[in-house]
Amino acid sequence: MLTMSSRITRHKVGVGLLGSGVVGEAIQDLIFEGLQGHVGADLELEIRKIYTRNPSAKKWFAHRPELFTAQAMEVIDDSQVEIVIEALGLQDAADLPIFRDYILRAFEKGKSVVTSDKAVLARYGKEIWAAAQQSGRQLRFEACVGGGIPVIRSLTESFAVEEPEAVFGIVNGTCNYILSQMEKSGKPYAEALNEAQQKGYAETNPTADVSGSDAEAKLLLLTAVAFGLQLQPGTTWRKGIEDIHAVDFRYAGRTGSSTIKHLAVAKRSDSAVQVFVSPVLMPQDNLLAGIDGATNAICFKGRKSAGPRCDRDCDYVLVGPGAGGGPTAMAVLGDVCELARAKERRFAGLPSLVEPGILTAQPENDIDGSFYVRFIVKDRAGIVGDIGQTFGGLGVNISEIWQLRHSGEELQTLARSYHLKENPEDILPFVITLERATLRQVRDALDSMRNRDYILVDPVWFPIWSAR
Ligand SMILES: NC(=O)c1ccc[n+]([C@@H]2O[C@H](COP(=O)([O-])OP(=O)(O)OC[C@H]3O[C@@H](n4cnc5c(N)ncnc54)[C@H](OP(=O)(O)O)[C@@H]3O)[C@@H](O)[C@H]2O)c1
Repeated sequence: MLTMSSRITRHKVGVGLLGSGVVGEAIQDLIFEGLQGHVGADLELEIRKIYTRNPSAKKWFAHRPELFTAQAMEVIDDSQVEIVIEALGLQDAADLPIFRDYILRAFEKGKSVVTSDKAVLARYGKEIWAAAQQSGRQLRFEACVGGGIPVIRSLTESFAVEEPEAVFGIVNGTCNYILSQMEKSGKPYAEALNEAQQKGYAETNPTADVSGSDAEAKLLLLTAVAFGLQLQPGTTWRKGIEDIHAVDFRYAGRTGSSTIKHLAVAKRSDSAVQVFVSPVLMPQDNLLAGIDGATNAICFKGRKSAGPRCDRDCDYVLVGPGAGGGPTAMAVLGDVCELARAKERRFAGLPSLVEPGILTAQPENDIDGSFYVRFIVKDRAGIVGDIGQTFGGLGVNISEIWQLRHSGEELQTLARSYHLKENPEDILPFVITLERATLRQVRDALDSMRNRDYILVDPVWFPIWSAR
């Protein structure tokens, strides 16, 4: 009998780790405990140095004190480190240039970089890509979008020959968890947020999540990869979930037909791309409407796709854990392995599906769609007529007016949560939906109504979902 012995020599790769927080520690757990450094039959990952400002406080310090350093440069400059992992987390916006400098230094020193830090890439992406190019080294960032979901790899490799029409989805688990709780149990926003914090789905300071800025950073990376458009944070339209009230879910589901989801959206209209983060009113039969809790889901719609769509809005959807130390560490190490196995770790450019510079971002005010607008007014005659005239004067038609019966208890809760002095019986919530309009038209109409004596609360408004 013939036996074949095929011994593969493991290729050892020196890795330097910047950061020992949730993600950094999960990376250490995986390498020291789960993998014992071995990945497949061919690779051995060796952590050479770990940077944290507080080494002795870290879990693995007791076992591997020699690996820890409070000097980031010791990690980057270590001659045995071939790949630098940047897993630093933003505590203060002033930290970002420091993190950028670490990445630039790594390229200068001839190392490739894997990062989970979407904030640094969203802010300094252009500079960082240029430095990677200049140094001829690689940059990977799979963990930056969708945590453990292989979004970037799927887009750039599996869909490499597709021309994207739209990339959109639920990219912030905290927002999705809070909205799911509000919908299921009718909890007010503050209570749902509090519960998310208790369960570890929201930070003590939840601003980056609930304001949509975390989703924006991820969206900018998706937009760069899908459309070759490198935009700066703060230059796109962004709405968080802080204004959503339990009453909005009652209106959304008034016929059991819709819900509210917080989406990051990049979709083409001619040669421009609409890029925004916002809550949207979404039909219950949409695939994304069923994504509950902290899960993320990213949809992709191509221009060339000839096959049946997986949903009426998209061709493919990737669903999975959008955050968490374990899944994120897996995504980081997946990138490390890919780089380690690459014969040449030389620059291959920003992996975008459309050549950079061809498409432009649609100006924010030109973004168009149908809209949901919820009012809370002091009940009296003539209000709907006035609102209709104001929108009509700007060329916008009202499509429908929804008015539910509200119990005394519900009105009291509304009055309390908005700190209204009015007698709850005198307040009136209702919703109008608008036919196709631009953001500018909606904003202008609502601005011109701001001082009406009947408006008790700033109207809450957002798009009605359409992938087109
Ligand atoms: N956690 C997730 O589920 C997840 C998912 C996807 C992506 N990410 C991204 O991955 C990165 C790390 O996240 P994380 O959850 O591990 O954050 P984290 O637990 O807050 O840890 C942050 C790390 O950054 C370090 N750090 C913070 N400010 C610093 C500064 N000014 N100078 C030097 N070091 C500083 C901390 O240092 P010390 O050790 O000295 O305290 C710590 O090691 C973030 O960019 C995050 O957005 C996280």
